[in-house]
Amino acid sequence: MSLDLTAIDDFSHNNVQYIEDPFSFYALMREHSPAHLSGTIFGGTWLMFRYADCARLMKDERLSNARSAVPLRFLDPEQRAEFADMLDIYGRWLAFHDGKEHTRNRRQANRGYVPFTDEYLEPRIQGIVDGLLDRVDPTGFDLIADVAFPLPAMVIADVLGVPVEAHPQLNRWTDDIAHLFGSTSVSVEHLRRTRKSTRELAAFLASEDNARRSRDAGGLLHRLRETEVHGYRFSERDVVAQAALLLFAGVASIRYLIGNSVRALADVPATQRDLLLHPDTVGPAVEELLRVCTPVSFVGRVAAEDFDYTASDGTVVPLRKGQPLLLYVASANRDPEVFEHPDELVLDRPLPNRHLTFGIGRHLCFGDPLVRQTTRIALSTLYRRWPALHVPPQATDWNNNLGFHGFTSLWVTGGV
Ligand code: HEM
Repeated sequence: MSLDLTAIDDFSHNNVQYIEDPFSFYALMREHSPAHLSGTIFGGTWLMFRYADCARLMKDERLSNARSAVPLRFLDPEQRAEFADMLDIYGRWLAFHDGKEHTRNRRQANRGYVPFTDEYLEPRIQGIVDGLLDRVDPTGFDLIADVAFPLPAMVIADVLGVPVEAHPQLNRWTDDIAHLFGSTSVSVEHLRRTRKSTRELAAFLASEDNARRSRDAGGLLHRLRETEVHGYRFSERDVVAQAALLLFAGVASIRYLIGNSVRALADVPATQRDLLLHPDTVGPAVEELLRVCTPVSFVGRVAAEDFDYTASDGTVVPLRKGQPLLLYVASANRDPEVFEHPDELVLDRPLPNRHLTFGIGRHLCFGDPLVRQTTRIALSTLYRRWPALHVPPQATDWNNNLGFHGFTSLWVTGGV
């Protein structure tokens, strides 16, 4: 079969066709054009689809994470000035720093997070999950609206020590930010809305009321302010920015992971789902759900210098300083070179499950233990309550960008 790869010029993170089924496209690209230059995305972006290239490039120090302004590239400098305050916040995120500055910021955040152990969090997350499930109507409910959306916002608000009741606003604000970083093109109108949401989120995190609450609760927001490592402290602006990052990174991803997982679990026999109910088997099952159902489709980088990269198929990729790359972890996670039967959900797949869902190297996800714990508690509680939980064949609504891949509505019945 001859393939016209120019046809993929319609590939964008906002094209509904790719959102509904990105996996057959990824398979095609892994085989025929694993390192692909898209002329349409951000004015010229290399897209990488194989595991070997994604893993290698995520650790390559010739690439930079200073990519907060990439989605605004289509604006001229004058137009960009309108968004300077928003970009100031994103530019402070530890995720967008390299080298020593990244190490310092990450160490600072790690130190602040020390008290939030699994033991401390277990009853708190369980309490939030139980409270949400107590309120649903088991004869039919929207898993996303009733559980998957409120849960991560409440968990991260609790960790920060800010009111968990704020979850609807936290979802709305972080959704606007997620659309900016999960899309391949956004409108000026969306940028204006995102700026407003980012400012509102920052004002919420900077408020005296929340500073007091977090201090009294021993929350992470307060600890980010107080923590001092080798004489260094975050500035007030940094504190607000890092807290906003944690909310955005956690809320925008876990909410889709839970929906994707429940949708995938509907197609496996109930005996398989029982693996989620036992302490010995739940760990590997959650790892496999992270592999197959990852909500974060790609990781971005920009070239820090000019250099040629030779991809796993021998393609020479001539990178120019400032040029963006998108590394598709959702494609890497289904690479047949690494995983047997890559498209199958094998809940007892042996460990280590080498998925790239949380990245690899120095930028490895900060929140991975929290994700694993929240997902484990949510899914095991759900299937313990309703072992026959069922997803009727009904239209589902997808989020409108591939960057954060998942449902915005998923109707389920408890099987009662
Ligand atoms: C299903 C949920 C999640 C997924 C799939 C996910 C995925 C990722 C990935 C792939 C990266 C690496 C990005 C890179 O290499 O540039 C990352 C980084 C990060 N994640 Fe997560 N994440 C999730 C949840 C969370 C949560 C709950 C938090 C915080 C509470 C969080 C905070 C962060 C931070 C701060 C970074 C930047 C780390 C660094 O640059 O050092 N994430 N995440």
